[in-house]
Amino acid sequence: MNLPIATLERPDVTAREEFRNAVISGLSSTPRAIPARFLYDARGSALFDEICELPEYYPTRTETAILGRCAAEIAQRAGPDCVLVEFGSGSSVKSRLLLDAMPDLDAYVPIDISREHLDETAARLRRDYPGLRVEPVCADYMALDGLPAFINGARRIGFFPGSTIGNLTPEEATAFLRRARRLLRDDGALILGVDLKKDSQRLHDAYNDSAGVTAQFTLNLLRRMNRELDANFDLAAFAHEAFYSPDEGRIEIYFRSLRSQTVTVAGRRFFFAAGERVHTEYSYKYDDAGIAALAQSGGFAIAKTWTDPEHLFAVAWLQAAA
Ligand code: AVI
Repeated sequence: MNLPIATLERPDVTAREEFRNAVISGLSSTPRAIPARFLYDARGSALFDEICELPEYYPTRTETAILGRCAAEIAQRAGPDCVLVEFGSGSSVKSRLLLDAMPDLDAYVPIDISREHLDETAARLRRDYPGLRVEPVCADYMALDGLPAFINGARRIGFFPGSTIGNLTPEEATAFLRRARRLLRDDGALILGVDLKKDSQRLHDAYNDSAGVTAQFTLNLLRRMNRELDANFDLAAFAHEAFYSPDEGRIEIYFRSLRSQTVTVAGRRFFFAAGERVHTEYSYKYDDAGIAALAQSGGFAIAKTWTDPEHLFAVAWLQAAA
């Protein structure tokens, strides 16, 4: 039996209307852009899971290995009876590494916008960790102002893995950290996974895999518009484009029109010139100084960083600063 899930945010428009509004506004603006969160419908989420297994996409396996090595130290830093709060928990795969090392947690609080994900994940965790109090919260963590009252006064340790912070602009990342800082309170801390700056070719390859899964992931957005917004994108007439910009310290991802064409979306016509592109994602990469500056901008200080031998990825313990 699934226990109830706290809902802290109730969108005033349905998910499909929100998608429609974002697409119409994104295709009507200059430059054109559609927010990355819309890449994750059921098929997009499955494709992202495939990306995580690709030989070129090192972040997932590197972070998992780091967490495996530092989980005991994280548990020690957290101390007994704390609450582990995961922002954007998905299927909580990485949190299991921490849960295994933290048998005396007061509660695990996965926060996710997808009720379906939360429901399944909570049921599986309750089965696999019978002694653990699992308190899922259905909410957009980018707009969350507090946790439900039943989450008591225990110390709160946040968890934001996967370098999801890299998909936020620096301004959005600071806003997220400030929000997390308030939520985790003065004695709290945040365990943050961050992809590091490195050789441009390695970064390029991670977003241009030879099997073409990342391209499918990007073009799935067109498929989603066709299905949900009655659009008529010809998927063969657009291409995935991803490159590393060293000046900006970020991967930029777009879909590019391969010829001049007009597409109808939700009853509106949009002209695409040959070569014109629509932005879908940024993936910012940080160095140690960048992580420290980001942490400080959000009201945290780095207490410890764990990395891998190649220095590809970092897991940082950010302590709430006074
Ligand atoms: C979810 N996020 C951290 C991924 C990244 O690496 O920025 C999303 C992604 N997009 C294409 N490949 C991976």
